[in-house]
Amino acid sequence: MTFKPANNIQDLQYFGEFGGVNPSISDSSTYTFLSAKTMFDTFEGNADGCYLYSRHSSPSNLYLGEALAAMEGTETATVTASGMGAITPVVLQLCDSGDHVVSSRTIYGGTYAFLKNFAPRLGINTTFVDITKLASVEAAITPKTKILYCESISNPLLEVADITGLALLAKKHNLKLVVDNTFSPLSISPVNLGADIVIHSLTKFINGSSDTVGGVVCGSQQLIDDLRNVNSGAAMLLGSTMDSLRSASVLKNLRTLHIRMMQHSYNASYLAEKFENYGLKTVYPGLASHPSHELFKSMMNEKYGFGGMMTIDVGSLDKANALMELMQERNLGYLAVSLGFYKTLFSAPGSSTSSEIPEDEQEAMGLSDGLIRFSIGLDADIERTYKTMKACMEKLNIL
Ligand SMILES: Cc1ncc(COP(=O)(O)O)c(C=O)c1O
Repeated sequence: MTFKPANNIQDLQYFGEFGGVNPSISDSSTYTFLSAKTMFDTFEGNADGCYLYSRHSSPSNLYLGEALAAMEGTETATVTASGMGAITPVVLQLCDSGDHVVSSRTIYGGTYAFLKNFAPRLGINTTFVDITKLASVEAAITPKTKILYCESISNPLLEVADITGLALLAKKHNLKLVVDNTFSPLSISPVNLGADIVIHSLTKFINGSSDTVGGVVCGSQQLIDDLRNVNSGAAMLLGSTMDSLRSASVLKNLRTLHIRMMQHSYNASYLAEKFENYGLKTVYPGLASHPSHELFKSMMNEKYGFGGMMTIDVGSLDKANALMELMQERNLGYLAVSLGFYKTLFSAPGSSTSSEIPEDEQEAMGLSDGLIRFSIGLDADIERTYKTMKACMEKLNIL
């Protein structure tokens, strides 16, 4: 595989307004025009390089967008105020009332809730499928289907989508394959594998400091122009715009993403192997026991590893809660949702980030009560972390 996403980020060269090594942060909500005609042309979408109003675009947001487009290998990108602020406009831009979405059933709870509960109010219905079974995906496609939606590695079950296979299906049926790549930035490059649109919650690994929410849609110039269209663009009209100060800080964090991903992957892989060897039900795409280990390997940009997310099933919610509280007490990390922080974050998704999914459906998809989702941190001494974690498990008779 020749695609080198981290090189693409490294190679960006931005000069600040005063020659600074960082681009100047744009600090304006509105922009002046020297002629009224240019203002008119800009509203019509015909004045490249002119800024209009910062809900539409701003220099700082464009810098970050271009960096993320370079990382994903798309023509361009638009950044948004949150991951959900990227997902919802894409669905609403691509689907009219009466249209249909085929989506993986194991996706982030908020996306699931939007597709299941909210989008039907606008006449957009979704069939949820087991994304690892291409035959069931194809069987769910109807003449009204517009979008095939999945996460490259799903939240929270860490199922791996066969992006190449799904892209072939999307092409065959003239659908857009939309991939949420939040769990595997750099490791997986969905567009390089045939996807049409890549979404990230920047809140997670990409920003990596748990100090803001943010999102991005990476895609064709046409899609991004459509999303930003002043008359009909879902991003423009729903107004989920990132603030320039924030996009400047996310851009700075993006530059170290490759180093962080390697460390997250190294640490997660170390712990997953250790705990699996103790007989704990451990799910990590880097383990040979993961049903899609070979598939992940065939898709990955190897250097960045299998990512920082793993799950361990400790048998019951009571045990999961007791372990998480003890691990926090012993300073192994925080009992918190979200991911991509320098410290390990852990939560029981069945009762938190996936609680939008009804219990019977959780059971059908294999989301058990005792499942703990870990976002493994950047710990410099993972052996020390392992020993402390093991001691916590022994104290609670989990090991
Ligand atoms: C895979 C995935 N996609 C999207 C989102 C939503 O992103 P945000 O919280 O930035 O709106 C999340 C958040 O948890 C997520 O885990």
